[in-house]
Amino acid sequence: MLRTHTCGELTTKNINQKVTLCGWVQKSRDLGGMTFIDMRDRYGITQLVFDMETSKQLCEEARKLGREYVICATGSVEERSNKNLKIPTGEIEIIVEKLEVLNAAKLPPFTIEDNTDGGEELRMKFRYLDLRRNINKDNLLLRHKMSIEARNYLNSQQFIEIETPVLIKSTPEGARDFVVPSRMNPEKFYALPQSPQTFKQLLMIAGYDRYFQIVKCFRDEDLRADRQPEFTQIDCEMSFVTQDDILHTFEGLTKHLFKTILNVEISDFPRISYDDAMKYYGSDKPDIRFDMKFVELNQLAKNRGFNVFDQAELIVGICAKSCADYSRKQLDKLTDFVRKPQIGAKGLVYVKCNEDGSFKSSVDKFYTQEDLKLWADEFKAEPGDLLLILAGEKDANRKALSVLRLEMAEQLELKDKNTYRPLWVVDFPLLEWNEESQRYHAMHHPFTSPKEEDISKLESDPGSVRANAYDLVINGVEIGGGSVRIHNKELQNTMFKTLGFSDEDAQDQFGFLMNAFEYGAPPHAGIAFGFDRWTALFGGSESIRDYIAFPKNNMGKDVMIDSPSLISEVQLEELGLKIVKENS
Ligand code: AMO
Repeated sequence: MLRTHTCGELTTKNINQKVTLCGWVQKSRDLGGMTFIDMRDRYGITQLVFDMETSKQLCEEARKLGREYVICATGSVEERSNKNLKIPTGEIEIIVEKLEVLNAAKLPPFTIEDNTDGGEELRMKFRYLDLRRNINKDNLLLRHKMSIEARNYLNSQQFIEIETPVLIKSTPEGARDFVVPSRMNPEKFYALPQSPQTFKQLLMIAGYDRYFQIVKCFRDEDLRADRQPEFTQIDCEMSFVTQDDILHTFEGLTKHLFKTILNVEISDFPRISYDDAMKYYGSDKPDIRFDMKFVELNQLAKNRGFNVFDQAELIVGICAKSCADYSRKQLDKLTDFVRKPQIGAKGLVYVKCNEDGSFKSSVDKFYTQEDLKLWADEFKAEPGDLLLILAGEKDANRKALSVLRLEMAEQLELKDKNTYRPLWVVDFPLLEWNEESQRYHAMHHPFTSPKEEDISKLESDPGSVRANAYDLVINGVEIGGGSVRIHNKELQNTMFKTLGFSDEDAQDQFGFLMNAFEYGAPPHAGIAFGFDRWTALFGGSESIRDYIAFPKNNMGKDVMIDSPSLISEVQLEELGLKIVKENS
């Protein structure tokens, strides 16, 4: 080793020891008789001292060092007169006796400090420099610890990690595939896996009854703060289990990660059906750190001559605690907020529950004080509270109110970063109608088993069939999802039929799995967690990009390596691909 210690470990216990450290020049200060260098590595920062009196030559060499030069310094550890108690090494310094420049460095395009002057684009282009900053280093360290603890837990529960292939077969369900042309098989393409779903099911058939893998998945979909085209799952599957067994096993994993990483005890994993999640929160990933459950008012508010309510499919609202003192301006702002095109509400009705027991509303023309009192009772509102009500088409209205609920939580500072409230959302619909293709699509994926009692409706009323599918939601983030699988060829066939596959298409796309079902498929079920999302949640951020060493930008590009990029004519030819350009 070139070094005896790292830049983060020397303390007063090491005084008088001779040490050699290697690292990067963070900062240098030339005070005439003395030169001080802060040397950094991933463990910390140590101060180097060069004294003009004892070694003029060394001091001059030190003065020539630029920011981010890679150096190796040997010297003795001394107690500092001017201590910095903010860092672990702040009580000592190294009186340097030997200095070696391991590599010079160009001036970095932005400062490598906690508060950097570099913009996002520039930092992405020089990601390797950005990764030298504490914030990114801490994020990657958190990710590392989480992967180790996930492995520890799953290993302790007899799960084994098995790798599945990355060059697989394109299938029509789910998001768009990324595809890779095959040189040896002209005109044919591999697809990159959107998840190892079919392989983990095949592993169950092969008898590996507890599988896991921390695995890259690829999806060609529109990007958002919580979505990357390549992301990582903690992917798991078990045989001979019920849905309850899965939920309990992975409550165990969740508790373990919370305890070992954040030292947070989680005891409660409430469950809510998909239908109730939509009814009470307007979302399949409700944030239950705060209340503000939806209250429906169709019974109490219709047929009083208020056209908007009379014509609405659903009248639904929330109660914002202690907000009756909202000003006209604040209420107008909320109205503008829900009217934004991406939220889509037509307007907002408010009812102020005044401290004196009276009510003031935006619909006083149509409703009496007694009517409003009945509404307030329905909301269990107290004097001082504010009711915010939307009316319109059911699904759109719930969605809009769910956004307003989150906005109010933000305004009322109810999203406490140190509170974690996990929730299982269960009983998802098996299928969802797709307007574009005019057919049902699997809500989860086509291998999800319908609820036993709903199987008979698969052909007659597919939209009403519920699935043995579940999501783990924490603080409004969908952290993971899974299902009990179909393990029977006939049922899988019926499912493909319902999804509009012909027998030939089903055989062509998924024959390998359906055939495998004929060779002793055990009952099995599983789940996959979004590892990037989980890490971001623990790190206290909404953007998963900060927890990925080399992420893509919003256009799916890696600006550092300039990818995706054109390939040469020769490569194209070799792959049997020709790009036909218009007008050529
Ligand atoms: P699903 O598609 O729900 O299930 O994915 C599981 C979890 O992966 C995360 N996730 C993503 N994270 C970042 N970027 C993305 N583009 C992205 N897409 C999904 C989410 C999600 O909950 N094979 C099934 C699992 C199973 O049934 O066992 C699957 O992939 O946190």
